[in-house]
Amino acid sequence: MLKAILPITTPTLRAEPGVQASGSGEPALQVSDLEIGRGARVVLRGVSFSAARGERLAILGPSGAGKSTLLLALASLTRPLRGRVTIDGRAPRPGDAALMFQSPLLFPWLSVLENVTFGLDVARSGDAPARRARARELLAMVGLAEAGARRPSELSGGERQRVALARALAVRPRVLLLDEPFSALDPVTRARLREDVAQLVAATGTTLLLVTHDREDARALTDRVLLLDAAAGRLHDPAADPSRIS
Ligand SMILES: Nc1ncnc2c1ncn2[C@@H]1O[C@H](COP(=O)(O)OP(=O)(O)OP(=O)(O)O)[C@@H](O)[C@H]1O
Ligand SMILES: [Mg+2]
Repeated sequence: MLKAILPITTPTLRAEPGVQASGSGEPALQVSDLEIGRGARVVLRGVSFSAARGERLAILGPSGAGKSTLLLALASLTRPLRGRVTIDGRAPRPGDAALMFQSPLLFPWLSVLENVTFGLDVARSGDAPARRARARELLAMVGLAEAGARRPSELSGGERQRVALARALAVRPRVLLLDEPFSALDPVTRARLREDVAQLVAATGTTLLLVTHDREDARALTDRVLLLDAAAGRLHDPAADPSRIS
């Protein structure tokens, strides 16, 4: 579907062993020794990894392991207890990373189109007609070209998820963070949207970090998988320790 609207380039993809380094030169996303708490509990500790520009990386972990917690920190929505995140070698700036939340969190008082332009409006990116044109392009990509005037309450759960994905992509982030993005979709829509996301990030050189407990989503959409150990709150690289793949 995306092939029709975007030039397809060959992405520079790497799947190097080792949790630390990947890619050549400055990684697009670098996470160093992150420790993150939730309430009084330390949920994640010693989390370090990096992703090259255009790389598609998955973090696979069971429910409660801290996947959403990690993405909140990478999107600068929570402050880690320790550690450092950089995007293109510097502290993340607004718009560098876009997070598609696990539940769509659309603004109920805005139309679908306004929800998708929201990030662009906040960033004052382009004029209003250009923002709406970009939002329509993204809505068409997720199969909701006709839904722009509707309210989120008039959509199904899967449709809301697709609007949230369009909203995250609209700002052309350097790093796209997806939190279980396909969980409410039927298998056919899921496969189609996975392919569209893969092509979009390839065409734009966007670095993708997907967190999920779904091995099939991770396998289909990404080049490299890291495992999040719920008990220890630590990341493991199965390429470095194959015994951990079950
Ligand atoms: N607001 C909160 N206050 C305190 N603890 C929380 C809060 N939100 C999450 N937690 C706890 O932090 C841990 C990690 O939660 P998180 O939502 O990151 O898990 P997850 O891997 O995304 O799980 P799931 O696959 O179910 O979405 C869990 O033990 C959870 O109970
Ligand atoms: Mg979660």
